[in-house]
Amino acid sequence: MADSKQPSLNLSGINAAIIMDGNGRWAKKNSLNVTSGHERGVDVVRKIVESAAKAHLESLSLYAFSTENWSRPKKEILGIKKLIINAIDSQVPELISQKVRLNFFGDYSSFGDEVIGAIDDAHRATAFQDPKLKLNIALGYGGRSDIIEATKLIANDIKLEKLSVEDVSNETIFKYLNAPINELDLLIRTGGDRRISNFLLYHLAYTEIQFSKTLWPDFTEEEFIKCLEVFSKTERRFGKRTL
Ligand code: FPP
Repeated sequence: MADSKQPSLNLSGINAAIIMDGNGRWAKKNSLNVTSGHERGVDVVRKIVESAAKAHLESLSLYAFSTENWSRPKKEILGIKKLIINAIDSQVPELISQKVRLNFFGDYSSFGDEVIGAIDDAHRATAFQDPKLKLNIALGYGGRSDIIEATKLIANDIKLEKLSVEDVSNETIFKYLNAPINELDLLIRTGGDRRISNFLLYHLAYTEIQFSKTLWPDFTEEEFIKCLEVFSKTERRFGKRTL
């Protein structure tokens, strides 16, 4: 059945990402604790994923937790840990029915065995060969450490003569990076700040970037679709002269 809220958009092959910022400020504005802000943030994730699948996006990568976020209060990190486990538990059946392949990336080992186990199970349960949407969630991710680790792996493979210096190309670097995408086409950041915050640094070379003042818990499917529409009308030149 056609969805009156969502005009038909076909963004197949497009890789989008979101820096979901503003949960803390939303909680403060509504006199709630920060975990309630993150909880509300997870509800928004669910709706946006549904919209992304309907718009035929190739992938949606969400910045859930950065390497820098480890310096947040223990209580907030514990709240996020519980939310991740609950979200996986409650959302995986829905993701399976929508044929969404879920993939967490980053170094999330410090969240502990329960989170690692839940993620492993979720990966296995949603490992579609031909998914409708690839949903990538960055957890314990930092763009710089991704580049550093990839550089070490490349250097090591050169040392072991598995790779020659001449063969190192853009494609090689994508292959060694941990983030499961290559070129990123669209990045949306909510919450009013206009920065990249160490997200997919190597992948951002030709990304169209949109900033929204809306705090993530207030971000709607309508605003997301607006962002996709603006993107779909943008002429991308990749440095070439088209005039
Ligand atoms: C940014 O808001 C949000 C985060 C650092 C955490 C986001 C995490 C979730 C929505 C849960 C993720 C879980 C899954 C499974 C998707 P902020 O706290 O930095 O907001 P502020 O800038 O207003 O303080």
